[in-house]
Parts: sequence; C-alpha cells; structure tokens
Amino acid sequence: MAELDDKNAAQAASWNGSSGRVWTERQAFMDRLLAPVSEVLFASLELKPGMRVIDIGCGSGGTTLELARRVGPTGQVLGLDISAPMLARARERTPAGTPVRFVEADATIYPFEPDAADHLVSRFGVMFFAEPALAFANMRKGLKPGGRVTFGCWRAPDDNPYFSLALDAAKAVLPPQPPIDLDAPGPFAFADARKVERILAEAGFTGIALRPVDVMFDDGAGGGLDAAVESALQIGPASRALQDQPEAVRTEAAAAIRAALAAHETADGVMVEGRIWIVTARNP
Ligand SMILES: C[S@@+](CC[C@H](N)C(=O)[O-])C[C@H]1O[C@@H](n2cnc3c(N)ncnc32)[C@H](O)[C@@H]1O
Repeated sequence: MAELDDKNAAQAASWNGSSGRVWTERQAFMDRLLAPVSEVLFASLELKPGMRVIDIGCGSGGTTLELARRVGPTGQVLGLDISAPMLARARERTPAGTPVRFVEADATIYPFEPDAADHLVSRFGVMFFAEPALAFANMRKGLKPGGRVTFGCWRAPDDNPYFSLALDAAKAVLPPQPPIDLDAPGPFAFADARKVERILAEAGFTGIALRPVDVMFDDGAGGGLDAAVESALQIGPASRALQDQPEAVRTEAAAAIRAALAAHETADGVMVEGRIWIVTARNP
C-alpha cells in the first residue's frame, strides 16, 4: 500500500477494501451517473493543449482520461489515488500512448514535482483527508505560481435529494440513526462553505470561490428503476445505514427506496436533483 498520513489509514483501508471494490465494479455505471458533474467541472476549467494537470483522488480514471484528451499529446496528466483496485481499473482502460501517469499515493504527503502543474482538478476526490489544510498545502506545492485548483464536492445531505431521497426512505424502516458527522472525512466534509474557505486559505490559496450548482442525475444511469435502487443499496449514506441490518430490514428498506425513486421515473431516466459546490482557487 502507498505511504500514508497515518490519520488517513481508515480511508485507505476502505478505498482498498469495500468502497474500492464497489466503485471498481461499478466504474462504467459511476462514470455515466456522474457525467453531469464532469460536464460542469470541465466547463469551469480553462485547459489548453500542452498543460500539466493533476487529478486528485482520480479513482478509476474517467476524469483523468478526459483531462488527457483536452491537454493533448503535448500535455501531461498525473492521476493520484490511494486505491490500488481503482487505479488498476484506470490503467487497464487507458489506451497506450495516452499522456497519463497513475500513481498510488496519499495526496497529503505525496512529493509532487514542485511548481510544475497548471491545474489541480478533482471530481469528488478531496473530501476524505483527515488533515485537509495540510493536504491542500502539500498539493499547492505541485502547482506553478498562478496555477489553479478546481474541484466538485457535495453540499449538505439533508438539502440534497440525490442523498436524502434514499436515506429518508431507509430511515423510515430503521431504528433511529446517528446524524451524519459532517466534520468527519467523507462525502460531506466540504459541505460547509466557510469551512472550505478556511481550509484553502490556511493552505495558502487565494481567490477562493464556491459556486453552488444543482445537477440532475439519472440515478439509474440509463438502466432504469432497478439500476437506481441497486445503486442506492450499494453506494452512499443509505447503503451505509443498511449495511449491518438484518436481511428482512434491508428488504423492507429496498422496497421503500424503490417507491421513493419510482416517483422520479421519467422518459429520460430516474431523475433526481443533487447539489454540489464547484470550488475554484489560485496559487498566488
Ligand atoms: C468518491 S471517490 C471519487 C473517484 C473519482 N474522482 C470519480 O469521480 O470517479 C473518492 C476518491 O478519492 C480517493 N482518495 C481518498 N483519500 C485520498 C487521499 N488521501 N489521497 C488520494 N486519494 C484519496 C479514493 O481512493 C477515491 O478514489
């Protein structure tokens, strides 16, 4: 396993264990599901051929390969992640000759080539650090003066139908659940805009801006209601709330999730709104 900030050990275990396995198996589904996020994210970048870009928490490489396409053969893209299985999938799908390098490493301590990259980019890959200001200060070292960071992260789960729909349906059949800890490393760690501004300022970034964007997701990623229910049971807070529950409770929750999602079935898919931030900042 990659050298780690010890405090990230639990996240590394998860991304090399159950989460990494599910995300790897579901790579094609996740890329299709998250395509609207990529669209917003890529529209916020000003990429030019020949640029050097780093994709943080690149996972199975969907965004990394798109970055490579945009910077072209004279550009360079580094995809960095702590998950060996997801990186294996990323390497496997990368055509020979693509100007991409995948590295298994913890972004908090990886020795980035100093002052080398034009842009740091991430789709949902920067909310899992135990010490986020330290991680961003380390990543900033890899940026040229004037280089930029742009990433997408989730807003709060209770104001986010993409999560609350399935979670509320599951909760209706579960015993009372502890609230999600928005401060802990995890998908919602960057939900609080003031906190994100503090982290990036402490890490030495300037020109910090958070733009709220509401995205329509097809929860079934083209596979309809069955695929949407399966996805809610495998990834996200509803799946975590259900993971240690008896089979009868899981079955009841699956039916409740199905009913909630069925109300969003349209000719275009199972359309549910998700709320994200697009965050941008600059290395002075
Ligand atoms: C929600 S997934 C997103 C993956 C990918 N960006 C995508 O959109 O498909 C979060 C990713 O962050 C990675 N990650 C978590 N902590 C990390 C760390 N300390 N350093 C590098 N990557 C990390 C995980 O392994 C995982 O691949």
